[in-house]
Amino acid sequence: MKLWGGRFESGPSEVFERFSGSLDFDRRLIGADIRGSQAFARALERVGILSVEERAAIVAAFGAIAAESASAAFYEGASDEDVHTLVIRKLKEKAGAVADKIHTGRSRNEQVSLDTRLWLREESDRARGLVTGVMEALVNLAEAYPDAVIPGYTHMRRAQAVLWPHYLLAYFEMFARDWERLGEARARANVLPLGSGALAGAGFPFDRDAMAQDLGFDGVTRNSMDVSGDRDFVLDFLYAASVAMIHLSRLAEDWILYSSEEFGWLELGDGVTSGSSLMPQKKNPDSLELIRGKCGRVIGSLTSLMVTMKGLPMTYNRDMQEDKVPLFEAADQLGGALEMARVAIESVRLNPGRPARAAEESWVVATDLAEALARAGTPFHQAHQIVGRFVLESVRSGKKPSDWTAAEMQSFAPELTGDLAVLLDPKKGMGSREIAGGTGPGAVAGALEEARRRLARMRV
Ligand code: ARG
Repeated sequence: MKLWGGRFESGPSEVFERFSGSLDFDRRLIGADIRGSQAFARALERVGILSVEERAAIVAAFGAIAAESASAAFYEGASDEDVHTLVIRKLKEKAGAVADKIHTGRSRNEQVSLDTRLWLREESDRARGLVTGVMEALVNLAEAYPDAVIPGYTHMRRAQAVLWPHYLLAYFEMFARDWERLGEARARANVLPLGSGALAGAGFPFDRDAMAQDLGFDGVTRNSMDVSGDRDFVLDFLYAASVAMIHLSRLAEDWILYSSEEFGWLELGDGVTSGSSLMPQKKNPDSLELIRGKCGRVIGSLTSLMVTMKGLPMTYNRDMQEDKVPLFEAADQLGGALEMARVAIESVRLNPGRPARAAEESWVVATDLAEALARAGTPFHQAHQIVGRFVLESVRSGKKPSDWTAAEMQSFAPELTGDLAVLLDPKKGMGSREIAGGTGPGAVAGALEEARRRLARMRV
């Protein structure tokens, strides 16, 4: 069956049919297509196109089709152009002649926009739920080692000491923004396009607000031409998904390093690692590598649709059918990566001694010393110079901070008074960073509690 054909003397070539069909992938929209069509049948009743009985018959037939669509047999032998065509063919088979009225005043251009919006709404909610799962796992892991100290890095060089929970809460913030961004993408999608027609607006006085209410939309779109040519709401989701994947990928990269023999900070569970077919000793972080790898696919999906859209003239063009494969791909990879990340995080055990030693054996305390000098009255630039020379001398003579005594410090530079020797322990310096958002132990404990409260609010 076709939803068009009167104007043609012959049918489409087999090659064109194969090339242009989208049922293989857009069948994922079938639930949304049916829900939207049921609401549209009610709108048709309100404008007098369908009688009460006809509307009831159509809505019931759609219900039956929805139930049947769960089985694989439903699609057997289906050669329909797209999911919208398939659903109308099935309606005809079930409800008979009255089905010929369902497409009155409606275009597939707005229908595909509607279906995608309905699908995205649910998918955004699902993704947001998975994001909070990752966030909760991070908070649990932070609470398991509340006092652990690690060197924080810039340029992949040891920079300043931070608490392990402070490090994990940095990722918590990134995922909190992802949760918000996915919510913004959802809100952008949650506007009713129906009533736009093909591009010029429907030729029937549909009550668009009633349709919006019926389908749970926040409002109605404002311009029919915009609706027909708009995929911004898909791009918004793809961007939100890409940024979330970047965050997952960076966490994965950190932990691939931190779980290596060279670092030895953490141990990934057996359940999220794999062995080598040749080297018996290997325990590889494949789950994390795949999270990092799949990130590329999601960014590729965003790029793909941006390139598809960039040169399109107003309004709808068939190119836009190519939005679905990247959308589904990105949503699937994001969901899978979030789930995998949660399980990987839950499997982690920290060996707190290793990062603590890495902090103690490096010069992460240098900033604490310079700032202490500044607090005691030495202008910071001079303090920086003094401590810089102190570090240089230590590097030359192979001394780590704990190798210095207070007396030796003082004789190296008179400004390095005995009371500063305590700052050679990285734990001590952190006490001066009790500023909001800093790694001071009190600030971090407060941030952890606040993170729990924020999570509880995200779940409702
Ligand atoms: N399968 C089409 C898509 O996904 C539906 C819209 C078709 N509209 C059209 N004018 N051919 O974009």
